[in-house]
Amino acid sequence: MQLSAIFLASLLLLSEQVAPAEFTQSPPPFGCDPSNPATTSYPFCNSKLSVSRRAKDLVSRLSLDEKLAQLVNNAPPIPRLGIPAYQWWNEALHGVSNVGRGIRFNASITSATSFPQVILSAATFDSHLWYRIGQAIGTEARAIYNAGQATGMTFWAPNINIFRDPRWGRGQETAGEDPQVSSKYAVSYVRGVQDDSFQGGKLTGHLQASACCKHFTAYDLDNWKGVNRFVFDARVTLQDLADTYQPPFQSCIEQGRASGIMCAYNRVNGVPNCADFNLLTKTARKQWGFHGYITSDCGAVSLLHHNQGYAKSAEDAVADVLRAGMDVECGDYLTKYAKSAVVQKKLPITQVDRALHNLFSIRMRLGLLDGNPAKLLFGTIGPNQVCSKDHQYLALEAARNGIVLLKNSARLLPLPKTISLALIGPNANASPLTLLGNYAGPPCKLVTPLQAFQQYVKNTIYHPGCDDGVKCSSAQIGKAVEIAAKVDYVVLMMGLDQSQEREDRDRVHLDLPGKQLELIHSVAKASKRPVILVIFSGGPLDISPAKNNNKVGGILWAGYPGEAGGTALAQIIFGDHNPGGRLPVTWYPKDFIRVPMTDMRMRADPSSGYPGRTYRFYTGPKVYEFGYGLSYSRHSHEFVSVTQNKLHLNQSWPYLLVENWETIRIKSVAEMGAKLCESMSVSVTVAVKNHGSMEGKHSVLLFTRHAKQRSGNPIKQLVGFESVMLGAGESAQVGFEVRPCEHLSRASEGGSKVIEEGSHFLLVGDEEYQIDVIF
Ligand SMILES: *[C@@H]1O[C@H](CO)[C@@H](O)[C@H](O)[C@H]1NC(C)=O
Ligand SMILES: *[C@@H]1O[C@H](CO)[C@@H](O)[C@H](O)[C@H]1NC(C)=O
Repeated sequence: MQLSAIFLASLLLLSEQVAPAEFTQSPPPFGCDPSNPATTSYPFCNSKLSVSRRAKDLVSRLSLDEKLAQLVNNAPPIPRLGIPAYQWWNEALHGVSNVGRGIRFNASITSATSFPQVILSAATFDSHLWYRIGQAIGTEARAIYNAGQATGMTFWAPNINIFRDPRWGRGQETAGEDPQVSSKYAVSYVRGVQDDSFQGGKLTGHLQASACCKHFTAYDLDNWKGVNRFVFDARVTLQDLADTYQPPFQSCIEQGRASGIMCAYNRVNGVPNCADFNLLTKTARKQWGFHGYITSDCGAVSLLHHNQGYAKSAEDAVADVLRAGMDVECGDYLTKYAKSAVVQKKLPITQVDRALHNLFSIRMRLGLLDGNPAKLLFGTIGPNQVCSKDHQYLALEAARNGIVLLKNSARLLPLPKTISLALIGPNANASPLTLLGNYAGPPCKLVTPLQAFQQYVKNTIYHPGCDDGVKCSSAQIGKAVEIAAKVDYVVLMMGLDQSQEREDRDRVHLDLPGKQLELIHSVAKASKRPVILVIFSGGPLDISPAKNNNKVGGILWAGYPGEAGGTALAQIIFGDHNPGGRLPVTWYPKDFIRVPMTDMRMRADPSSGYPGRTYRFYTGPKVYEFGYGLSYSRHSHEFVSVTQNKLHLNQSWPYLLVENWETIRIKSVAEMGAKLCESMSVSVTVAVKNHGSMEGKHSVLLFTRHAKQRSGNPIKQLVGFESVMLGAGESAQVGFEVRPCEHLSRASEGGSKVIEEGSHFLLVGDEEYQIDVIF
């Protein structure tokens, strides 16, 4: 007894002496501490009760002032109930970030895995990879919380808006222009972060971390020629809303089971999103079954009265958003005006209680009001899980499977490893911000392209080419040409960075900035062999002059490739990795900028010369198509089997639809009903073969199109995609389910799903397969 006491004392002494100060962890904040008998007796602390009962109990104990104080992102503690402060605003777009307010990298954990900017991960067309990235982010987030460096576990990602216009500064944050890809990205990321698998795939309601689909809805303009997101009123048709803008959000909620949504700054058809009862309550909660919390974008509530002229007073604005179904404000407008809104009887307390119920339910599902989190489900996730080898390797995998090979004349790439080499251009020794893109946290380890290329060619010569970064208002063309003439090969690293496209900054043109093109042409002309051009960017650029220049032999698009991006590029260029990325957006020619960015219409309007948007509706010429991407191997595709080529939809009456003066026979998907829809599912098997001598990943994209090309119909639309690893000469079969109600349908002008009779085609690679829909 005595001995052990002495032993214990010396052990304590020892540990006090040994533990270095920087490794002392503060415990993570939690409520319902079992050592505090005053609080544990409350029903809301009883984790055996349902979340709903607990939340109800907790809310019933709060005074009016305590209630109102909880309605903002920076929620104060409620000491008398043992409830700690909580920070709702955290970011994890492509890795846990400290751009929000609740994550600190100032103790034992100083960094987190920085995955490629989302637009590049999207280019992998690999939903399992997206899920794994989500899982890694959720795990790292939980480890950071367990280490006492997080005051919130709600993360405001993913950004699942459609990349509608190539100039959008935040397009880089998205999964591109296709609703099907954005939907799958949303579901994969959200499930990964929230983590079903930890509980053996069972839906227990527990959250590893909470994801939030944003920005709801039709938000895809930041600041273009003086029009900004804070005042922009997006005029959106019901048709475009139904088959472009809303599907990612519906999927995020229905299949992703996201625990959060953010309503966007902008208005849609006059109504600010955060004040739209139809959107937040009727559509998200009632129609799609959303059970989480809804936050405003930061500062959005104050806009209603002050900028948008929507609410007559501050109190009206507060009442509008809570009545619409918003639960928490990012900002402090409610701190100032919620009380007066209640006093003036504009804001019923039932709406406040409803919001609080949603908010505390999330904190309970995260396990933050269950006593010591070390003893809970996710309590064992330690700091060694942050920047683990696996996660860092995943960042490399995402980058090198996302990078898109756009041109490879005369098989210039891959390059031999024993050569003399020059890296020229403003992004050759790119800054962390360029490599990572926006909303990044501190990366585990960053490898610039220059460092990575030096691993292959020790004496790589480097020259930035431009005097002022990617802006390139002046260039040292003479010097660059001199270097280019001396070496065997030249790789030019050009493109954009956050100074050109970012939040609050849309582009006004699609050109390479400044003298970049002049530098490219001059260097290409001077070099012994054709040069390789690497483009860093989120959004597309019109690089046709480089594409058409015979001395530019290879072109790669690298997005913003994340912490392992330099390594990924070098591995591809030197042939240690076979590129397989595909463009997730259409690359438009530069004169696309004649289209006002504010025009939200997806569908072309030939009578006014409006070309439409994205591969589904855009009718003009393209620099590169959605889904375009080469490999070091050639691949062939073949339809092996299709279970039906005639679909008889004769069980219900057809309607006549008049669109653009044309009469069309259609069936309503809603009337056909889920059972019939399901029974018509067509199984499609596609064979794909790698004819090359190098193994690599290849994404199989299956599209459909209607035989009749008219503006109401998409030119084609994606059914599904599957990424397969194929060895040299290897073949594989890939299966798809074509569900006619989903994949052969489109929205009517009224916004309901319809199927048109006639021939539809399945498309994969250069192959087509006809399916007839017969009424
Ligand atoms: C980290 O930052 C937070 C917030 O600024 C501060 O409270 C905390 O003491 C800091 N921790 C360390 C170890 O510096
Ligand atoms: C629908 O068409 C199929 C094929 O011609 C036929 O066998 C079936 O009886 C029809 N059903 C109805 C309800 O007319």
